[in-house]
Amino acid sequence: MKIKIEKMDYEGRGISHIDDKVTFIKGALPNEVVTAKLVKEEKRFSIYEVEKIIEESSLRIPSFCPYYKECGGCIYSSVSYENSLKLKKESLEELFQKKDFFLKEISITPSSSPLEYRNKIRLKVQNGFYGYYKEESHEFIKITTCKLAHPKITSFLQDFSLLNMQNGEIEIRINTNDELLVNITTSKTLQIEKEITNKHKIAGIIINNRCVYGTPYFFMRINHLLYKVDYSSFFQTNFDIASKISNDIENFFDEEDIVYDFYCGVGYFSLQLAKKVKQVLGIEENPKAILNATYNASLNERTNTSFHVGKVEEIIQKIPLSANKVVVDPPRSGLHKTVRKLFLENNFETIVYISCNPKTLLRDCEELQTKYEIVFLKAYDMFPFTKHVECVCLLNLR
Ligand SMILES: C[S@@+](CC[C@H](N)C(=O)[O-])C[C@H]1O[C@@H](n2cnc3c(N)ncnc32)[C@H](O)[C@@H]1O
Repeated sequence: MKIKIEKMDYEGRGISHIDDKVTFIKGALPNEVVTAKLVKEEKRFSIYEVEKIIEESSLRIPSFCPYYKECGGCIYSSVSYENSLKLKKESLEELFQKKDFFLKEISITPSSSPLEYRNKIRLKVQNGFYGYYKEESHEFIKITTCKLAHPKITSFLQDFSLLNMQNGEIEIRINTNDELLVNITTSKTLQIEKEITNKHKIAGIIINNRCVYGTPYFFMRINHLLYKVDYSSFFQTNFDIASKISNDIENFFDEEDIVYDFYCGVGYFSLQLAKKVKQVLGIEENPKAILNATYNASLNERTNTSFHVGKVEEIIQKIPLSANKVVVDPPRSGLHKTVRKLFLENNFETIVYISCNPKTLLRDCEELQTKYEIVFLKAYDMFPFTKHVECVCLLNLR
């Protein structure tokens, strides 16, 4: 059966209709005619995967990645960077405008480097080889390089054999000083060759949660602030975009503001905002990240901050409400219903919602818009060539 692709969805899949049923086609671009095989059949929609492209889009170019089809990570690598931004922007507008409550144009800020931007990659290791799992599966795709990774991470991977690692998972991070933090999970004892620490600038190596070389943390310097980041603490993946977002959101705050930073990690946004506002209070569930945040506050002399460990949805029920504005940067699942309820039952002047999942952002905004007006929604290309995109949404009390 031939399928004509109408447009793209926010997950980078082609959209079509077969017998009036919404159909998502992985690997297809708008205006293409393809044949595809059925992957999943649901009551309201079906998912297909391209088999053969019969009429090719004029946007299609050869991918820069040899694993592009199997891995499925860089779905937009079949078009130029410029066109990938255009497609991401259009699919976000389609998603939000469909709901009729946000009808404005959505801008998208490009990443200064569309390749080699990732300061962290996590790889699977099987039988001494490293790679990724094919999207939504446990099918191992062996790779030699990933074009999204920072060049120093790529260079470290060329010496992967010196780790003598047979199975498990390896996460490699790089800081703004080009030091690596390597976190390995494996079922076997490792004899790491000394050569690897001689050849590469390594801050620390952690095996099964035990630091076997250097320190279990390193430091990031970004926007004139220094952050200690434990191997288990989250840090923004693309330095350039992280810096652009924090600079942009600063404009929504004033000297007299008392701000909650929900899901604050090591205090990335808290510390930047603390130099402008009266007080910042961060909440984060990872105890290591909260220790980092508290340390980072004194390291950067931000005495007007305090940090609380625990789930946002639990902590907010225990502390007296003092803030007039809020920053939220939740995981992909979005805001917990208790947090949404808190917003609806209180009068926060402004909520700055930073999201890595447009679907949950949309769900949360739909609920919050009865009380808060969406002033704008901006996209930032934190993860070029992949289906992922970061959004910042400014909500003001009506
Ligand atoms: C997307 S990261 C944002 C971190 C931080 N804002 C930053 O820019 O580095 C989400 C953070 O939320 C934390 N987290 C996840 N669920 C949580 C919850 N229910 N309550 C508090 N923190 C949570 C994670 O540990 C992670 O650090």
